[in-house]
Amino acid sequence: MARHSQGTFEGMWADLADIGRASAGGYRRFVWSDADLTLREWFVQQANDRGMGVREDRAGNLWAWWGDPSAGNAVVTGSHLDSVPSGGAFDGPLGVVSGFLAVDRLLEAGRMPDRPIAVVAFSDEEGGRYGIACGGSRLLTGALAPDRALALRDDDSVTQAEALRAVGRDITFFGADPEVLGAIGTFVELHVEQGRGLVDLDAPIGVASAIRGHGRWRFDLVGRPDHAGTTRLADRDDPMLAQARLVLAAREAAARHGAVATVGKVRVEPNAVNAIPSRVQAWVDARADDDETVHAVVADIAAAVGLDPDEESWTARVDFVPVLRDRLVTALGGVPVLPTGAGHDAGILASVGVPSAMLFVRNPTGVSHAPDEFAEETDCLAGVDALTTVLRDLAWE
Ligand code: GLV
Ligand code: MN
Ligand code: MN
Repeated sequence: MARHSQGTFEGMWADLADIGRASAGGYRRFVWSDADLTLREWFVQQANDRGMGVREDRAGNLWAWWGDPSAGNAVVTGSHLDSVPSGGAFDGPLGVVSGFLAVDRLLEAGRMPDRPIAVVAFSDEEGGRYGIACGGSRLLTGALAPDRALALRDDDSVTQAEALRAVGRDITFFGADPEVLGAIGTFVELHVEQGRGLVDLDAPIGVASAIRGHGRWRFDLVGRPDHAGTTRLADRDDPMLAQARLVLAAREAAARHGAVATVGKVRVEPNAVNAIPSRVQAWVDARADDDETVHAVVADIAAAVGLDPDEESWTARVDFVPVLRDRLVTALGGVPVLPTGAGHDAGILASVGVPSAMLFVRNPTGVSHAPDEFAEETDCLAGVDALTTVLRDLAWE
């Protein structure tokens, strides 16, 4: 049962503090896990406390509505509650908590907004369990086909269809949701900054200009399994050697092209210390300012290992609409504008033409996707202030 406090940042943050804590440090909040279900329960309670109508859309995203969604042109805020394995506390939840706190402040003013307002918690933003980034928003928009999403397997070979059935969801209902998508007039996602841009600028809050192009590629390196003690070096077909070449090629290609590339996940079969592996799967995450550069990096890595990878997800560069971006900057009295190398649901919505924008909150460590991710409470509260200002500016004419 989720604890729930209403109305203070401290209380709401404390509600979430123990949910999905990983033994290795940080959080493990994979979609459809017990932690995810507890977070969803907390979200529903927060909505109920405020008299907001709750709905889970066909893609598993949760919505809390102030006003009638069927009126359309809604002002939507929020982010996600899931995490990477061993993730930080702020990536995602900060945007959801701030959304509810901003609604509290607007409710206190006692005037109905001219446009409906919603807080959303997008499902499976990190793709920690099934590998596809922004799974919930991609499904919502139709960018991810439900058949593909349902067939995805986690590291225990459980398909998303099986996981959904186990938590009582109807898989025939799972997929794009044009009705919900069509209700969104504007989306503003508040997020902890995942670098030190705002620290260097000495600013608590910033507005996003762009999300760099990024994607995930899986390489399947196949060899011949054998005994680690009795197989002569000359007789081996060891895929771990290709794996080593791949890691170095990724680093070198990224440096050569002014990009970043990371091999953050490998799966070794059979994963025995005294056996030559039969197969190594390696996942490459590559990102750059422009999409051509990302693809050039991946092509160089593919050439180095002589294999074509499977593209598991791809997000082209997104430049947020300048008129909305500038409206936020003006409403906030002039704050810095900066790009990010991190992916977000706001990018997915922007790519299908939903006017979208992002607010960033300073992160003194600059670390993210790791337990050291942080934001000072005063900066989080400045974020709530900024989000309140922006929502007021957008939802009241
Ligand atoms: C998600 O946060 C990503 O950038 O991969
Ligand atoms: Mn993230
Ligand atoms: Mn995030």
